[in-house]
Parts: sequence; C-alpha cells; structure tokens
Amino acid sequence: MDDLIKIKETIAFTLGESVLEISYVVASVLFIIGLRMLSHPDTARRGNIWAAVGMGIAIVATILFHKMDGEPIGNIGYIIAAIILGTAIGWIIALRVKMTAMPQLVSFFNGMGGGAAALISIMEFPHISEGLVQQYGMLNGEVLSILLGLMIGSISFAGSMVAFGKLDGRIKDITTPILRYINIALLVVLVGFIVYIMSLGQINPENIMYLVYIMLAIALVYGVLFVMPIGGADMPVVISLLNSFTGLAAAMGGFLYNNQAMITGGILVGSAGTILTILMCKAMNRSLTNVVIGAFGGSASGAEKELGAIKETTTTDAAIMLNYSRKVIIIPGYGLAVAQAQHLAHELDKLLEENGVEVKYAIHPVAGRMPGHMNVLLAESDVPYDKLVESEEINEDIENVDVAVVIGANDVVNPAAEDDPASPLYGMPIVKANKAKNTIIMKRGMGKGYAAIENHLFYADNTKMLFGDAKSKLQELINEIKQL
Ligand code: TAP
Repeated sequence: MDDLIKIKETIAFTLGESVLEISYVVASVLFIIGLRMLSHPDTARRGNIWAAVGMGIAIVATILFHKMDGEPIGNIGYIIAAIILGTAIGWIIALRVKMTAMPQLVSFFNGMGGGAAALISIMEFPHISEGLVQQYGMLNGEVLSILLGLMIGSISFAGSMVAFGKLDGRIKDITTPILRYINIALLVVLVGFIVYIMSLGQINPENIMYLVYIMLAIALVYGVLFVMPIGGADMPVVISLLNSFTGLAAAMGGFLYNNQAMITGGILVGSAGTILTILMCKAMNRSLTNVVIGAFGGSASGAEKELGAIKETTTTDAAIMLNYSRKVIIIPGYGLAVAQAQHLAHELDKLLEENGVEVKYAIHPVAGRMPGHMNVLLAESDVPYDKLVESEEINEDIENVDVAVVIGANDVVNPAAEDDPASPLYGMPIVKANKAKNTIIMKRGMGKGYAAIENHLFYADNTKMLFGDAKSKLQELINEIKQL
C-alpha cells in the first residue's frame, strides 16, 4: 500500500515537473511571437497581449507546479495578494497616464523590473551561498549570477528613476567632468566587490551580508550618477540602455532559479534593449563607451550666432502654399504628441493628396520622447505605414520637396547639429528641413526643444513660422484648404 502511494506521488511529481517545463516553453514561444509582432504598429497591440498571456501562463504554472525541496510553494495568499495589488496599480496607472507621459511611465516600469531583480539577489544570497559553502566549500556561478543581478538590477532601478525624473522635468542635468572619473571609479569598485566575494572560500554568508549591502548602495549611487550628467538630446540612448540592463538582471534571476521562461524573457528584453541602444547611438551619432561612463551630455552653451529676424505666416498663406505644391513632407515632433494633433495631421495629409499633392512623413528616430514615439502616434490615426519614411531616406531627395511642414518638432530639424561643433546636438543626424524649397514651422511660440538650444532654422530665409497650438492651427489649415 505504501509503495502504491509512493508511486502515485512520484508520478504526480514528474507530471507536475513536465507540465511546468512545457508551460515555460509555451511562455517563451509566446514572448518571442509577441516581440516579433511588436515590430509593426498594426500587430503591436496583439503582440503585447500574446506576451502578457505567456507571462500569465508562466506565473500560474509556477504557483501550481513548482516544488521547493519537494514541497509546493508556500505563502500562496501573500503571492496572490501581491499579484492582485500589482496588477491593479499597474492597470490604473496605465489607464490614467497621458500619451505624452508614456516615456516616463516606461522608464518607471523599467526601473521596477531592475529593482525586483536586485531584491531577488538580496533575498537569495544568504541561503544559496550557505548551501554552496556547505556542499562545495566555495561559492560558484550561482553566486556570480546573484551578484551580477544585484549590481545590474540596482543600477537599472536607480538610473531609471533618475531618467523618469528628468523626462518629467523634475530633475535637472548635473554636468561636471569629475562625474566621469567618479563613475569609472565606482564601476571598478563594484567589479572589485564581486571578485572579492567570489574569492572567499569557507565563509559564513551571514558574516559577509554587509558587503552585499555596501555593494547595493554603491550600485544605486552609480545608477544615479551615471544618468545625472546625460541630458540634452542623449536621453534616448540611456533609456534603451537601462532597458537592456533590466533584461540582463532578470536573466540572471532566471539562471539562478534555472527558470527557462525567466531566462528567455530576460534575454529577449536585454537583447532588444541592446539592439535599440546601438540603433539609438547610430541615430544620435554617439559611441556606446561614452554612454557607459556617462561622458556625454554636452552643455547648452554653444556659441550663439547672430539670429536675425523670423518671418511669420498666416493660415491662409500656408494653406495656399501647401495646396499648390507638388511634394510636401510633414516632420512631426514632440509638440504633435503634446497637442494630440495626429488625427488632424492625417486629415491634412489626406486632403492634400486628394488635391494631387504627394505627402510623406519624415520620421526621425528620436523625435518625441521615446523610441518609435512618432510611429505609434501616427499609427493611432491610421496613417498608412508606407507613408512614414526614415529621415535618412527623406534627406536624399529633400531639395525637391516644395514645403517641409514641421509640426511641433525642434531639435530633430536643428541645423546646429551639422554646422555648430559647440552645440550639444552636434553630430546628430537631422531631417534637413533647411534644404527644402520652403519650410513652415508650426509651434506655439519661440519655445526651445528638449536640448534647450536655439534653432537657426527658424530664422532662415525660406522659413515661415505659423504660431499656435498644433491642433487648432491644423484645424484652421484644413478649413482654409477646403475653401480653396
Ligand atoms: P523637441 O525638440 O522637444 O521640440 C518640441 C517642440 O514642440 C518645442 O520646441 C515646442 O515649442 C513645441 N510644442 C510643444 N507643445 C506644442 C503644441 N501644443 N503645439 C505645437 N507645438 C508644440 O522635439 P523633437 O524635435 O521631437 O525632438 C525630440 C527631442 O527629445 C530630442 O532632443 C531627443 O533627443 C529628445 N528625447 C527623445 C527621446 C526619444 S527616444 N524619442 C527620449 C528622450 C529625449 P513651443 O513651446 O514654442 O510650442
């Protein structure tokens, strides 16, 4: 009878293990499909849902089938309460957040991921180390995963919180050259801690817990100081880099628990973030080494040239100019998102096309406040994807464009990026609106862009300013064109 019960228990255990493993494989496949779907605006929303379902499967399977020392998971009540609370808070925040505050939200959530990975490391260090010391008399790769997860997760948490504060306008850049050296020193110290802890042999892990806490504190300080000097137009690079850090930290947790879903999820986030970082670096013409040691960020004190006078235009004149053009490009920027004027931009574009004008959108990789911001915004108002052209491609033929309409963009069309070595934007590729036959700038006033510097394009001979909120001005333009 006892044997029968044992056999039944063994079968149940093996079956549970198998279901768990299969669930992780299914979750991993759903993550990959979801990520693939995120690469196109048409499928992005569904991709998000697929990946979320994958995560749901992994969580439920872990709660039901994961065994710790042969026993089912305990504290189920706390776990479910935490899931409900976290879901409710995340849901409410996501529902309430304005589209323009989305980058801050992404930064905040990214920081939470890093913080969670760091907490896992702190929780697991004492007893995993103890087990290893008892069994092998030394620490091994599992502890290395814990320490790397702690370091990378804490940097990502602190850095993302500073990035959140900066994007929200609550934290100002601190640019002092000495930070570069402090940051390098902190990184060396952190690596030194890891090497030292790993080299300890027969120790009582409880006795070196204070070293882990010191490491945590240094990593948090490094995270803050690493993002502090980065500002101007360079934030996108650091945001995607922090994103890849969180992925790496989560993957470390996956190695630690030998959890395939966590490893796959972490690696996907880490590699997607790394690819994005490289693309952003290319778009901003920055080197990754400079990002890591927090060495760039430029100041807004470029030598001011003689500015001259701006020329204002009226909606009537702008409407005539647009309606009788052959080729028009729309260059959207952060102001379009602020004004929520994407639907009207699309309406203007359709109206002009009906009147025989060819209209394309020039999409700069860092226009707005998050990677792909303009693509998401315009996809929301059903602008066909093939109308969105990358700035590099638009620039090839920009001399033949009759009117470049800049809607709420500033830094991404600033010629200082090409001709003023003292400018913090210098080296960043731009949409060369200054090379079009005519340029109309739609913005509320002479407000500066994210990099907080003057834009000489506004004073150029072929530039006309059309002042006002993008939404109301676009509506006026549409009304005028309809009457022509
Ligand atoms: P910005 O240079 O930030 O300029 C936006 C302009 O929009 C402002 O000059 C503002 O001028 C105007 N504006 C604001 N509200 C408006 C409204 N309601 N109607 C009309 N205009 C309005 O934008 P950009 O050209 O898109 O460049 C993006 C900048 O953000 C870059 O420096 C980039 O590096 C940085 N950044 C990007 C990201 C990513 S990943 N995309 C992340 C962080 C930072 P007025 O006040 O005069 O209206």
